This record gives sequence, C-alpha cells and structure tokens, in this order.
Amino acid sequence: MPCTVVVGAQWGDEGKGKVVDVLAERADVVARYQGGNNAGHTLVLGDETYKLRLVPSGILYPGTICVLGSGCVIDPEVLIEELDGLESRGVDTAGLRVSGNAHLIMPWHRIIDSDSELMLGRLQIGTTRRGIGPAYADKASRVGIRVQDLLDEKILRAKIQTALSVKNVLLRKIYHQRPLDKDVLTEATLHYATRVRPYVADTSLLVNRALDEGKVLLCEGAQGTLLDLDHGTYPFVTSSNPIAGGACAGLGLGPTRIDSVLGVTKAYLTRVGAGPFPSEADEERGAAIREHGAEYGTVTGRDRRCGWLDLVGLRFAARLNGLTQLAVTKLDVLSIFDRIPVCTGYRLPDGSVSQDFPGHQSDFHHAAPVYEELDGWNVDISGARTVSDLPAEARAYLEFVEEHVGVPVAIVGTGQRRDQIVNLHDVLRAA
Ligand code: IMP
Repeated sequence: MPCTVVVGAQWGDEGKGKVVDVLAERADVVARYQGGNNAGHTLVLGDETYKLRLVPSGILYPGTICVLGSGCVIDPEVLIEELDGLESRGVDTAGLRVSGNAHLIMPWHRIIDSDSELMLGRLQIGTTRRGIGPAYADKASRVGIRVQDLLDEKILRAKIQTALSVKNVLLRKIYHQRPLDKDVLTEATLHYATRVRPYVADTSLLVNRALDEGKVLLCEGAQGTLLDLDHGTYPFVTSSNPIAGGACAGLGLGPTRIDSVLGVTKAYLTRVGAGPFPSEADEERGAAIREHGAEYGTVTGRDRRCGWLDLVGLRFAARLNGLTQLAVTKLDVLSIFDRIPVCTGYRLPDGSVSQDFPGHQSDFHHAAPVYEELDGWNVDISGARTVSDLPAEARAYLEFVEEHVGVPVAIVGTGQRRDQIVNLHDVLRAA
C-alpha cells in the first residue's frame, strides 16, 4: 500500500510529468507501463529544465527506483542518449530498471513508421514517427526483439538476421528504401547492449515485492485515454493501452493491487496529430491558448491543436479508468480569458444531445460541442498555493468540473514549476 496509477485523461500532454514528479517525492518506485519515446515530459526544477521522453520522471529523485515495464517499447539509442544526458547533468541513473520483456524499437520500425505515414498521405495518423506502432505490431506478430535478447549475443544475432530477412524485402519493395546492413546493425545493437545490460531486471517481481514490503508505487501512464488503442479515437490513437488497466498488463501487476487512479487533465484541451476534436477553439483563441500554455510538442515540436475542456471526454476517461481523483493542470493558462466555454455535451447528427462519449466513430466525427460559458478570473494565479488563494471564479470552474465528472479534484497546477501547485487532497494517503 499504496499503489496509484497516474493516467492521462485526454489526448496526452496533460502535464502528467509534473504531477508524477511532484508525487514521486514520496514514492519508492515510479513505473512506466506503456509507450516509448513518443511521450515527452518537461520538468522544471529551479532554473533547470529537463525534457524526458522515455525514462520515468522519478529519476530526478535520488534513491527512487524507476521502472520501464514490459508494456513499454524501447529505442536503445534514445535510452542511452537520455541516460547520458541525465548523467552529464549530475543525475544518478542507477535507480533505473528496464523489463527484459519490453520490446525494442529497431531502425526498421522508425523507417516503416515514417514511410507508411507518407504513403497514407491525407489519411495519415500524424504519428510521432518514432517507430512505436511498427514495434508494437511486431510484438503482436511475435517477431519482435526484446530487451532480454540484448543479454545473449547469439540470440540477438539470430533474431536480427531473421527479422532483416523479411524487413529488408519490405524496405526495398514496398518503401523503396536501401536495405539495412545486417553486420552494421548487429554491431551497433551489441554496442547498445553493453550499456543497457546493467539496467535489465524482472520488473514484475520488483513492483510486486515493493508493494509486499509496504512501499509506495506510482504507475505512470504515457499519452492519454483518448489515444488508447482499444478505447480511444481509433485510428487516430497510439498503439498501446494508456488507460489504467494497461498498468496491470504493462507491469505484471494484478488489478486488485491498485488502490487509486489519478486522472490528469488540463484545464483546457489539446490534441496532436490528426482526427476529430469537437471542442477545438477558433483560430484566435486557439492561438492564445497555444502561446500562453506553450503548447508545442516535447517530442516533435509540432503545434498542438488547442480547445476547451471537454467534459464528455473527461467523463469517458473517468469511466474507462475508474478515476478516483483528478489533477487539473495549467489552470493559470485560462487566466487570460473573460469567459471560458466548457463542453458539456455533444449534439449528434440526429439532433440529440449526448453526455456520453459516442460509441460509434461517425457520431464522434460529426459531434458538435454544446458549451456552457463560465466566468473567467482574469488575475494571475501562478502564486496560488492553497485553495483559498484561488479567485472565486477559478474555484467555481473546478467545482463545475467535479460536479459534471463525479470525481473530486485533488491537485491543481498553477504554473510550470514543481512548487506551483495547489493540493486539495492527499493523493497518496487517499489510496
Ligand atoms: P504514435 O504514438 O507515435 O504511434 O502516434 C499515434 C498518435 O498518438 C498520433 O496522433 C500522435 O500525435 C499521438 N501521440 C503519441 N504520443 C503522444 C503524446 O505523448 N502526446 C500527445 N499525442 C501523442
């Protein structure tokens, strides 16, 4: 006790990194359960900014064990680059543990991800082109290469050779690319193996033992609920399960071990990549949110599409994840508006208004937002540290969210820094 899952309640980029970072101070183990370097956390500590893509946010706390679970996909080149970057800034990475069952992102995955997006043209998903989808596809096809294969040179050589015998045909014939050289690739991968080997562990055993010993475990989801492969806005989704249930499969943890699920939502909404977005703001106000909220991708640098909080989506997230609490981040960004629209329902093509997220894709594609406009507060709230520091309108905004979603707000973010936070409930104690 306790085990808390921190999950994105929107389309990713909710500010989970900061929330996990704040909670990690009191966690013994922080474990990522899915995704790879398609995620991106920006953490601000004093004057230092850290941009992490793969390693869990807990790494910045000395003594915290940080896990990349079996549900993650790992690009060894990126992992090593990130570890080197952290170490060069004096961060000790000895607490990292990488599941031997996690799959590796290989160079062909990156090429296939990019080239298949190009081939899709106007129908493209807008992936991060980091090879995530093709790596998970190979995992499901049972032809993937796993982290534990790095531990045995003979197995690694054989697996690369087998994979390339198929992938090189694909690369040449379908994607019109030069085939990858087996020897060059094997030597490079063996070189990575030497660096990654000390971190490889049985992470399911590790997280379960930690709970048995009464330690605090934080499970860190990447991306967000609406990008979930099964339940998100398919096909504009990622290729893993960011929802809280993903923590069980991706860490080797039984569902009964989870005590609480914290859903992280921005006070507004953003989306990267293609796909419908009912509460997308008009150009002027969307640009204002983008500028004030610095809504540019950590991984790709792309402009994020910006809009208003969508309570239909948030209720959906509460249902899919069994949310017990909410963290509302970046409330300060909304301080620039006199009036703040909040989407409370979807008007569907048959004229009805639904409070439930549509089960059918065509309904979602044609959903028109029904807004309620709330009063803005128009004052700087970046110094607020307690609820009473927040203006009445900001408190009313949070109460409106709680009431419509049926989940209490435990944490409010009022700025980028670690200390710019208002705690309403103790997340870890409530677990
Ligand atoms: P992939 O995860 O790179 O395959 O991309 C699939 C979809 O998920 C695309 O729409 C991406 O923009 C989106 N996506 C992946 N990771 C993130 C993230 O961390 N934040 C927001 N969107 C993401």
